[in-house]
Amino acid sequence: MRKKRTIPDILQMKQEGRRITMLTAYDYPFARLVDNGGVDAILVGDSLGVVFSGHENTLRVTMNEMIYHVRAVARTKPQALLVTDMPFMSYHISIEEACRNCGRMLKEGGAQAVKIEGGVNIAHVIKAVTAIDVPVMGHIGLTPQSIHRMGGYKVQGRKDQAERIREDALAVQDAGAFAIVLEGIPSALAAQITAELAIPTIGIGAGPACDGQVLVIHDILGLCDKYSPKFVKRYADLAPLITAAVRSYVDDVRSGTFPADEHSFK
Ligand code: KIV
Repeated sequence: MRKKRTIPDILQMKQEGRRITMLTAYDYPFARLVDNGGVDAILVGDSLGVVFSGHENTLRVTMNEMIYHVRAVARTKPQALLVTDMPFMSYHISIEEACRNCGRMLKEGGAQAVKIEGGVNIAHVIKAVTAIDVPVMGHIGLTPQSIHRMGGYKVQGRKDQAERIREDALAVQDAGAFAIVLEGIPSALAAQITAELAIPTIGIGAGPACDGQVLVIHDILGLCDKYSPKFVKRYADLAPLITAAVRSYVDDVRSGTFPADEHSFK
């Protein structure tokens, strides 16, 4: 029987050099599958806006949508640490609103921690939220909620931008975050930040030196063909299997071979 993962466990994993695994899940069945696969943390990512709801980007995801999905995942009582993204504009307006919204994710959603995008610019929010005992995972580099500022999903921190990303990482740690996602930055920069920080780094498109890795579950299972970033490794190709199963059902119903006697009541 696996032990429930806590935030101290995640910190200890860095100290002991054990790699941290995190995957997204947005609903009850996927959360069960992902938890049974043995990940250390489940992220209810706002990537659900793209891979679940079909939006162009993550900006339209609302607090109510996130709470709905976090609740579904929390109902599985996962052994993994349950982290949820804070959606765009839920933590930007004021400290009071940020604290209220982050607190709702624990109180109403059942999450154990929230993830907030931003570095130096958002450190004051991380400080206030951690001060009311809502654990925060930071997220810097390619931050999808900044898509318009970045002009698209582009690798960040190349050449003279590297120092700014390093400063973001230090600001997030100093503000009290227990871990930090490094997304879409050069591997060498991620290695430097990982060596410098006491808190674990969790990479996505940030190379092998991070203390852990995170990916979107739909990407690794081949369930989303909208985009295919270089950093994704596909572990299964489920879309054709599912379409083939649906085709067989359609054929069976049309030909009258389903339902058979064993599916019918006497
Ligand atoms: O929204 C998300 O799923 C994420 C991860 C992929 C890091 O932020």
